[in-house]
Amino acid sequence: MYSSSLLSLESSLGRRTFLRRFGRIAALAGAGSAFYSVPGAFAEELVRTPKQTEGPFYPDHLPLDTDNDLLVINDALTPAVGEITYVSGRILSPAGEPIRNALVEIWQCDQNGAYLHSKTGNGDKRDPNFQGFGRFITGSRGEYLFRTIKPVPYPGRAPHIHYKVKRHGKELLTTQCYIKGFAGNEKDGIWKNIKDEKARAAVTVAFLPLKGSRIGELAAKFDVVLGVTPEA
Ligand SMILES: [Fe+2]
Repeated sequence: MYSSSLLSLESSLGRRTFLRRFGRIAALAGAGSAFYSVPGAFAEELVRTPKQTEGPFYPDHLPLDTDNDLLVINDALTPAVGEITYVSGRILSPAGEPIRNALVEIWQCDQNGAYLHSKTGNGDKRDPNFQGFGRFITGSRGEYLFRTIKPVPYPGRAPHIHYKVKRHGKELLTTQCYIKGFAGNEKDGIWKNIKDEKARAAVTVAFLPLKGSRIGELAAKFDVVLGVTPEA
């Protein structure tokens, strides 16, 4: 069963693309109104997503699989260790228009704090089943979706997921998103460095139980508002 919002995503992407992108994860999603249920979003003034450091761990080698399901590498039978989370949202212009054909990249450390990077900490404990990096190209409504793990803290950092948005090969924004209510956010230097309260709130999102999930999956919604409208 798909949620109505996943169905609308399906119609906007076209059935074949949808199945290719979502084949496994849509089947597992078990529906949930958490996706794209943003009534009244446009009634509010959009807060631009603050730019944040790329950090030292953008993958220096790509995983064998770079799709939007970071829990499973290709057709591996063993999934990554961690709390399963569906992270979704939209890529928007400063005026709130959806940005289609934006390439959304995310990367994050695994459950043991190891990145897909040769200089990562805890490299010897890296979860070989965690993809660590994923890509998604937005559809006509600017939507993206990843299945990944709930980010965990590692020395010096509160939990976060790194984001990079590109379009036609041009980098538009590099940022990070955080877990709303995580007590250690206040001690994170990069989080604290976002001085504007609204901008900080815009990158600090709720990780909530996915409705209808019997296995305790989570959903998080993170909309990215670009600083400039990319050229068509
Ligand atoms: Fe990081």
